[in-house]
Amino acid sequence: MNKKTVLPIASDHGGFEMKAFIIDKLQKEGYTVKDYGTFSEESVDYPDFIHPLAKAINDGVYPLGIIMCGSGNGAQMTANKYAGVRAGLCWSVEQAELIRLHNNANIISIPGRFVPFSMAWDMVKIFLNTDFEGGRHEKRVEKISQTL
Ligand code: RB5
Repeated sequence: MNKKTVLPIASDHGGFEMKAFIIDKLQKEGYTVKDYGTFSEESVDYPDFIHPLAKAINDGVYPLGIIMCGSGNGAQMTANKYAGVRAGLCWSVEQAELIRLHNNANIISIPGRFVPFSMAWDMVKIFLNTDFEGGRHEKRVEKISQTL
């Protein structure tokens, strides 16, 4: 990922602390981050923060994005309501690599309460630096949004 590209990030309170950790790491690496909130540990509803980021990805404003909530599931489910979004829930570095290689994911969803922060950072790095493999995965990914 070109470091000039702006990276959007969003979470609810369940991912707030991890989000702050990841933003700090990204900025130290030279990335520009657009923080969609939340901005405190106060209890909030994750869709209020995930929808704006997912819509921006869907609209082509950013190529890739990072989202978090406590489990990673609510954030991922919200983001995947947009036809142009492919958000993958990750709990290992290999998963984070595979969602790019095989699924051309444009959002990584991380469970803020279930993985170590250091692993979250490793997952973000591999997500940002892995390209879609294409080939046999191309038509599979195209079929994802072709609901019956
Ligand atoms: C918030 O308590 C929690 O429900 C939320 O962060 C997330 O895990 C939802 O899927």
